[in-house]
Amino acid sequence: MTEKAVILIGGPSRGTRFRPLALDQSKFLFPVAGKPLLSHTIDSLLKINTLKEILLIGFYEKNIFEDFVNEYNSQLKYTGSNCSIKYLKEYKALGTAGGLYQFREVILKNNQSDNFLVIHGDIICAFPLQQMIDKFETVRTAKKAPDAVLFGVNLSNYTYDLMLTMSPDYHSSYGLIVSNEKKNDKVVHYVEKPESRISNIINGGIYLFNTNIFKLLSEAKINKISKANDENCFEIVDEDSLSIEHDILQNLPERNKTYVWIYKGFWKTIKTPSDALVANELYLDLIYQSKQEAQTCILSKASVNIQPPVFIHKSTNANNTKLGPYVSIGQNCKLGTGCRIVNSIILDNVEIGNHTLIKNSIVSRNCKIGNWCRIEGTGINLVSVNELIRKNGVSKLKAVIANNDNFRVIGIKDSGNITILGSDVHVKDETIVYNSFVLPSKQVTQNMKYEVIM
Ligand code: GTP
Repeated sequence: MTEKAVILIGGPSRGTRFRPLALDQSKFLFPVAGKPLLSHTIDSLLKINTLKEILLIGFYEKNIFEDFVNEYNSQLKYTGSNCSIKYLKEYKALGTAGGLYQFREVILKNNQSDNFLVIHGDIICAFPLQQMIDKFETVRTAKKAPDAVLFGVNLSNYTYDLMLTMSPDYHSSYGLIVSNEKKNDKVVHYVEKPESRISNIINGGIYLFNTNIFKLLSEAKINKISKANDENCFEIVDEDSLSIEHDILQNLPERNKTYVWIYKGFWKTIKTPSDALVANELYLDLIYQSKQEAQTCILSKASVNIQPPVFIHKSTNANNTKLGPYVSIGQNCKLGTGCRIVNSIILDNVEIGNHTLIKNSIVSRNCKIGNWCRIEGTGINLVSVNELIRKNGVSKLKAVIANNDNFRVIGIKDSGNITILGSDVHVKDETIVYNSFVLPSKQVTQNMKYEVIM
């Protein structure tokens, strides 16, 4: 039984790679597949019927999440749920475990269970949380509960960027978990971002911790303070900051009570705007496969040709348009006759003129796009990237991409392969915007390719 969950959401000084989309809001509130990124995580947590409280821990100002949290809580109250949501603000960036330590009493308060969940707010996946809880119970013995169940992502079947960063040419950007299959996947070794690939299982950023980890955190805190005050130590040590990866995970295997739950589904961290488009694609697929609410809204409008999966808000005004696959459209948008939208996110109050094409792009709030425009990015076609991997193997993929025009602008960590219009941007009739970023409130009056308008 698990009663509490923490979602780590960082703060404004983090998530900078998500600019320009994070200029006017937190990336966690950015909508993908019809709802804020964070709502996908929260809604998965709400499926755990023993859950009583979800704590969002970050260092954003309180007002940023106030409406979001209030709306959720009134909805939860209305539906008779036993769960509520709270935002807790760190006094400064405390690292991934500093907030757990600062708010340990809130996490423990009224928690009758011996465990709690912690989730990195910037990951997307199918959140098989109940399976992790079941694993915790399976490995529990009469004498001892496990220290933790980690969420391990098996790389063998995953996406191109993940595989690239894991190929022998690169050192890992992820923590790696080594476990013993014969012993219920007991974790024998954890290394944060190692230089060599010691395992195919990466740390997926979800943990079911025993409440006894607060003891480990207290010890880590004491060590930090003494190091910070040690005159002979020349390292700069921030005594307030603690890290799940360094201060907890690396110390757990030797205690012999940590397990990994291995997941093979889709998984990704959301760092850049092009990651948001991938998230939109993966979540729309998930929603479509599980036949949930999203794709249905506009199917009744006969004059709109839909290629699912799509999410279109019911307030959308559209006629003779072709939408999809992988399109999400926010509130109060007007789409002109003959417009075509593919693999894109359109936020609220956007007007799109007649016969305009939007592809592999993100169009922010209140944009106005004229007639016969092309707003377009090269895009990442996951299917063809996976096909390339199958044909060429991961280690040769970099060379293949370098020699393939279609993949010319795919940088491993950049987001140059989509077009982004910031909020309140106006685009003149018959204008092409290709693989470019336009910052908020700008007028685009001539064609642009691979440009940034500041
Ligand atoms: P990078 O590749 O450097 O971004 O590292 P990473 O992918 O391991 O992510 P990172 O450790 O920076 O963050 C993991 C999660 O913790 C993200 O959801 C962050 O928003 C969150 N996070 C990071 N630092 C802090 C912090 O100081 N406080 C809180 N509350 N959350 C944080």
